[in-house]
Amino acid sequence: MKIMIIVGARPNFMKAAPLLSAIRTRNARESGHSAPAESIHAYLVHTGQHYDLTMSDSFFSDLALPKPDECLAVGSASHAMQTAEIMRRFEQVVLREMPDVLTVVGDVNSTVACALVAAKITYDAGGKRPLIAHVEAGLRSFDRSMPEEVNRVVTDHLADLLFTTERSGMENLLREGIASEKIHFVGNTMIDCLLASKENAERSTILAQLRLRNGHPGNGSRNGARRYALLTLHRPSNVDDRDTFLRILQGVEELSSSCPILFPVHPRTAKRITEYGLESRFVSANGQASGNGSNGHFMSAGIHLLGPLGYLDFLCLMQHAVMVITDSGGIQEETTCLGIPCVTVRENTERPVTVSEGTNMLSGTSSDRIRLAIAAQTRRNPSLSAPEMWDGQAASRIVDILAEKACKVMTVQ
Ligand code: UD1
Repeated sequence: MKIMIIVGARPNFMKAAPLLSAIRTRNARESGHSAPAESIHAYLVHTGQHYDLTMSDSFFSDLALPKPDECLAVGSASHAMQTAEIMRRFEQVVLREMPDVLTVVGDVNSTVACALVAAKITYDAGGKRPLIAHVEAGLRSFDRSMPEEVNRVVTDHLADLLFTTERSGMENLLREGIASEKIHFVGNTMIDCLLASKENAERSTILAQLRLRNGHPGNGSRNGARRYALLTLHRPSNVDDRDTFLRILQGVEELSSSCPILFPVHPRTAKRITEYGLESRFVSANGQASGNGSNGHFMSAGIHLLGPLGYLDFLCLMQHAVMVITDSGGIQEETTCLGIPCVTVRENTERPVTVSEGTNMLSGTSSDRIRLAIAAQTRRNPSLSAPEMWDGQAASRIVDILAEKACKVMTVQ
């Protein structure tokens, strides 16, 4: 049985890694049985939506991902051009490899593009095509101005198997008329990855590189690290408009006067900082993880620009931060799992469990509301919480279901 797995952009890699690992584990387990089930051949396709060393390659090494079987190398372009180019190149791969299952993860352009190709492809005159599985199905921000929301809705309505991370996902899909037998509440593969990587992340040297190792807990520090917060911003609605971007920066500046804020910058955001002439609002704008701020000894107050970080370095920084301020989807979930207070500078979240059961608080993008949310989160005691099924086993549940469903389809055909 062949399962094709698609990755394309940075947030896909940590969702796919646990699936590949669960397939390896299942194959090893089955080979030991007296009547082993058919082994699964995993076939990894990288669309190349993200392609830089820091946005893609470093994740392969950090997550011990195998080299992709196929690289489509599509690169950056407008939404329509990028989606169309992925579809054009991917169609040839599906027709040649004829997988039994196509697995797409998350909500990026690569997700919807590959699902759309598979939904319309036929391997033979009987109309055979791969089963389409969507991992992280059902999340809804109810904001169609987000490209990701469009990708989610379309992908979910094309998929044959929908794997959800939280109960709201199941409810959204049922409300949209998707048959309940297609939906499986399995947990969160990104959390599988986080739980499997925590120890490795502790071995990261990033705290030492940034001179944030304290050596002793106390004085408001977290587990031997000096006190700092972490900021990430990349959403077009937040950084592609100068006024909005500026309002967000003004909202976090008060915190930065008493606590250094580390800001690993996404390429889109880096471009905007230059274009809008905002460099002077940051302590160090060299784009390097030099981390010595202005005094070369201990990171000073202010917002410190860093280049994009690898998975383990970023996880290490999240684990020790006093707070994370972000507009990312995945980071809301990761901070919930780590028990780190999170302020999400968006009006909505497609991941409501991070607010109801986790450590997340929505602030919107007005400076005042961001300041209030930061103040409230500063007073909050970090607390560990694990939403239902976020137990590190989501990928093995998914692989078992895929194997069973694909086997049934193959038997019928
Ligand atoms: C994409 C996803 C978003 C996800 C984000 C994580 C979609 C619609 N959006 O947004 O959901 O949260 O990835 O980063 O799929 N660039 C580089 N190097 C790279 C990749 C991109 O420099 O390796 C630059 C390019 O100039 C590009 C810009 O970053 O124009 C944005 O990249 P793009 O893939 O279009 O979307 P993201 O904003 O990264």
